[in-house]
Amino acid sequence: MNTKTLERLYNNPHEKNIDGNFQFILFGGTGDLAHNKIMPAFYNLVEKDILPQHFTLLATGRRYSSKKEYLDAIYDSLNSKKKEVDNRVWQVLSDNIEYFELNFKDDNDFMKLKKYFADQSKNNKIYNRIFYMATAPEFFGEIAEKLKKFDLLNVGFEDNDSKLVIEKPFGHDLKSAEKLNNTLTNIFQEKNIYRIDHYLGKEMIQNIMVIRLSNPIFRSLWNTGEIDNIQIYINESEGVKDRGKYYDDAGVIKDMFQNHMLQILSLITMEEPDDLSSKSISTRKVEVLKELSKIDIESIDEHIVRGQYIFNKYGDDEIKAYQDEKNIPDDSETATFIALKLFLDNERWNDVPIYLKSGKRLKKKEAGIAVEFNHDFHNSYSENSEVQSNLLKIMIQPDEGVSLRFNTRKPGSNNKIVPVEMEFCHSAHQLFNSPENYEGLIHDMIEGDKTLFTSWEEVYYSWKFIDKFQTKCNNEDLKLYKYPALSKGPEAADELLKNDDRIWWD
Ligand code: BG6
Repeated sequence: MNTKTLERLYNNPHEKNIDGNFQFILFGGTGDLAHNKIMPAFYNLVEKDILPQHFTLLATGRRYSSKKEYLDAIYDSLNSKKKEVDNRVWQVLSDNIEYFELNFKDDNDFMKLKKYFADQSKNNKIYNRIFYMATAPEFFGEIAEKLKKFDLLNVGFEDNDSKLVIEKPFGHDLKSAEKLNNTLTNIFQEKNIYRIDHYLGKEMIQNIMVIRLSNPIFRSLWNTGEIDNIQIYINESEGVKDRGKYYDDAGVIKDMFQNHMLQILSLITMEEPDDLSSKSISTRKVEVLKELSKIDIESIDEHIVRGQYIFNKYGDDEIKAYQDEKNIPDDSETATFIALKLFLDNERWNDVPIYLKSGKRLKKKEAGIAVEFNHDFHNSYSENSEVQSNLLKIMIQPDEGVSLRFNTRKPGSNNKIVPVEMEFCHSAHQLFNSPENYEGLIHDMIEGDKTLFTSWEEVYYSWKFIDKFQTKCNNEDLKLYKYPALSKGPEAADELLKNDDRIWWD
């Protein structure tokens, strides 16, 4: 890729600009997500001229009593994130923002919202209405039901084509996810429900399929005969911050594995889709997740390492133990770290161990995928201990890129072999759970492209596996290793690979 192409991609990743007006209704418009992700993402989309001149971003909430107050608050939070808010961009964005004071417990407010929609559609034909749930998850179903009850979905439309966007978590186990899904699908058509997993908005996650499938050297080797093992890791250095209440129930299993980790796993291991439509890709991901949901958990319990961080001193800083964090019971047994090994029982992958690891309060925040190729087959160099395996690394963050290790002859040496690494890498264009992850997702939900969203079937089979896994982990026989905050996690996670003569590649 030449520099010009790269520049264009990063400055304007969506070649297609959005035509036509749309109405984007944000429930939870005054909350953290709106301030930290959604509004900054809209700001960037306006800056890149992706959005039409006129659209409506209707933020609903209770905290502010006027549009001016709301805009001031949004301006302040944008200002605290950007070096400088560009007045031209702000002018366009703020002209398109509306604030609607709404208490979603109050039926009257929904009636007023209906009138607002009716008035708006008299003046302007609305082609595209998107309801975005950025509230606490326990309200998703309730708000959707009110939209139906007060008949807000059809105002200004000939038929109900409104879209619904749902943040994670989608339920807290299979049963609650099914209940929520039944509620939502009674109200919205599945084709209009967008379930967010912000990892799918990350540049290198979107790159997985391109790397795998557009390069014959990888495509032809992507199977059990050629690959020795696969590793996926998302290490975080932050603790649970002020989300203790949510996190102590979720733990790392529901917080990271049910969604981000399993999504990456399915993209890496799925069969090649028939085409690049969201439906075909999802069908392939579901096959993997279904496979996973059939795994006999008893067969992997010796390959699960659970951990929880404890107090540590880092320079002058004292890092609290998990059990001392806000809203965490001091005898909590919740895992903040999990490493595990599993196998997929299918033709492509049987015998290839897949190692997964994620945890909070680890030494360094980084995420990536390592695919290590076989090198123990017979060839003229088999006896040479300097020969190393080919290693493909897909770096997700903080660096984004790809590296490939291969063997070469050391120049001028007497046939000495050295491994070299070819690397395409740069600092992450998208910093962690950043507005940029949301830019692409917002663009795609407006445009009706569901490729970067998870289907109900994906969610269903992910929960099926995670429920079993969680039950197993709750079993007291499964040891909870304590690891010092900001360390590399429990030693047992290294042992897991050492026992197989392997090491982690993070
Ligand atoms: C969220 C989890 O889904 O992902 C958080 O709820 C986690 O606990 C975050 O910190 C990680 O995202 P990122 O983009 O910062 O790696």
